[in-house]
Amino acid sequence: MDKLPLRKYFDKIRFVFFTSFIFCLSLLLLNYYMTACDYGVTFLLFNMNDAKQAHMPKPSNSCSGQYIYVYDLASRFNEDLLKGCHSLSKSIDMCPYMSNLGLGPKVSKKSNEKVLLKESFYATNQFSLEVIFHNTLKHYKCLTNDSSLASAIYVPYYAGLDVVQYLWGGFNVSIRDASPKELVKWLAQQPEWKRMWGRDHFMVVGRIGSDFRRRTENNDDWGTKLMLLPEARNMSILSIESGSKENEFSIPYPTYFHPSKDKEVFQWQKKMRKVKRPYLFSFAGAPRPYYNYLSSIIRNEIIKECQSSRSCKLLNCNAGHNYCNDPVHVTKVFQSSVFCLQPPGDSFTRRSTFDSILAGCIPVFFHPESAYNQYLWHLPKNGSSYSVYIPERDVIEKRVTINEKLSKVPKSEVLAMRKEIIRLIPRIIYRYPSSRLESVEDAFDIAVKGILGRIEAIRRNITNVNYTIS
Ligand SMILES: *[C@@H]1O[C@H](CO)[C@@H](O)[C@H](O)[C@H]1NC(C)=O
Ligand SMILES: *[C@@H]1O[C@H](CO)[C@@H](O)[C@H](O)[C@H]1NC(C)=O
Ligand SMILES: *[C@@H]1O[C@H](CO)[C@@H](O)[C@H](O)[C@H]1NC(C)=O
Ligand SMILES: *[C@@H]1O[C@H](CO)[C@@H](O)[C@H](O)[C@H]1NC(C)=O
Ligand SMILES: *[C@@H]1O[C@H](CO)[C@@H](O)[C@H](O)[C@H]1NC(C)=O
Ligand SMILES: *[C@@H]1O[C@H](CO)[C@@H](O)[C@H](O)[C@H]1NC(C)=O
Repeated sequence: MDKLPLRKYFDKIRFVFFTSFIFCLSLLLLNYYMTACDYGVTFLLFNMNDAKQAHMPKPSNSCSGQYIYVYDLASRFNEDLLKGCHSLSKSIDMCPYMSNLGLGPKVSKKSNEKVLLKESFYATNQFSLEVIFHNTLKHYKCLTNDSSLASAIYVPYYAGLDVVQYLWGGFNVSIRDASPKELVKWLAQQPEWKRMWGRDHFMVVGRIGSDFRRRTENNDDWGTKLMLLPEARNMSILSIESGSKENEFSIPYPTYFHPSKDKEVFQWQKKMRKVKRPYLFSFAGAPRPYYNYLSSIIRNEIIKECQSSRSCKLLNCNAGHNYCNDPVHVTKVFQSSVFCLQPPGDSFTRRSTFDSILAGCIPVFFHPESAYNQYLWHLPKNGSSYSVYIPERDVIEKRVTINEKLSKVPKSEVLAMRKEIIRLIPRIIYRYPSSRLESVEDAFDIAVKGILGRIEAIRRNITNVNYTIS
């Protein structure tokens, strides 16, 4: 009987001991957790320094205001063009470039590791964007089959693959315009169209706008008149070079790098930060015939200067030199150079601009339409923060030599511009279409944000005036 109090006493001790133990254990766990958090925070900050603008907060679950509806078009407007890829272009077989969801053949030779990363590089054709974009949109997080929910309506027409069949070979205008006309006729009959007269519709084309802006019915004129059709003028059109600032928006040409993990992007940025750049400047390109007057003169001048300067590396893209379509060669030249010359060619813009940004090489422009008046969603407003501008006229009239101009840029400015260029890398690459990046915002994400914002602005405009969405 007298044992009982003692037992109670022990019970109490055990209780206190047990509680303390749990308490200590909790503290330990909490401490561990906080340390883990600390690392998390440090890691995030570290990455933010790497690529400030490329990071966005984790996407919220809500898709409100971001839903996109994709039309189910007749296959002749997209899938059939892919099936007929062998005969699309007279000069090259497009089929290899259509592989891997439009990215083209994978670059996987072991010998390339030093220049590229082991994975995620493809020999992407410069005109593949419409296919890549469509395939990426198929994995967009806010797709809807209910068009009444949609903030934007995507028209998956491969206008570039369609027109390339007819750009050369003397096809008359009625053949060239047949598909575009058929497409808009179909669109205008859809209930989705009637809601806002197509003002919430968008298209993405992988060629330059002027291929679709034929102003006359003259067979000698270039391209189709797709973008001048009244229906197309109500839509927003994304292309690699815009021909009108009203409803056309330019977005980056596709480059060779299509990562499927954030880690690969950071790894590549780090590599480009460290790489040695023995050449002051480089040029990858070919002369232009004299009828393309300004491009012809400026390119001749650039080639002449480059050949006579030991600090310039020339990658000759004349017929017979195929290095210019080789991701390894191009990237190797650009990552060995401080500046990369981007003169106009057949048109103002060049895919090469994005290849040079990818390689951490500061682009040198000769015309404001080559970039400053184009990629407004993707590139900084302030052109001097990431590039050098040498007015075309100064070169043509021989008022400057490129070598002298570039060698006079202060070292501190070079470093600041390169830092900015490397920060821009995530914004100008298109990820692997079926992948999702965690914290990196790529060119696709920025384009989608841009188009949703633009359509929202139109909707607000219309609603304010005299229209309410039923
Ligand atoms: C839309 O419908 C198609 C065909 O029924 C289906 O495969 C797809 O998953 C649907 N998509 C969404 C976002 O509901
Ligand atoms: C255009 O070319 C096609 C095929 O060559 C021909 O059938 C058609 O009659 C031509 N149209 C005009 C208006 O010349
Ligand atoms: C284009 O939109 C305007 C309103 O902005 C509308 O009046 C016109 O009918 C539309 N055109 C077509 C072809 O739908
Ligand atoms: C543009 O960037 C350059 C270089 O970073 C800077 O010196 C200049 O002040 C900037 N201009 C504007 C208008 O912000
Ligand atoms: C909104 O309406 C005004 C006046 O009609 C027009 O100038 C402007 O371009 C419109 N904005 C958009 C985004 O459509
Ligand atoms: C309403 O909008 C349509 C299409 O833009 C225009 O034709 C019409 O004049 C507008 N009406 C009023 C009252 O503003």
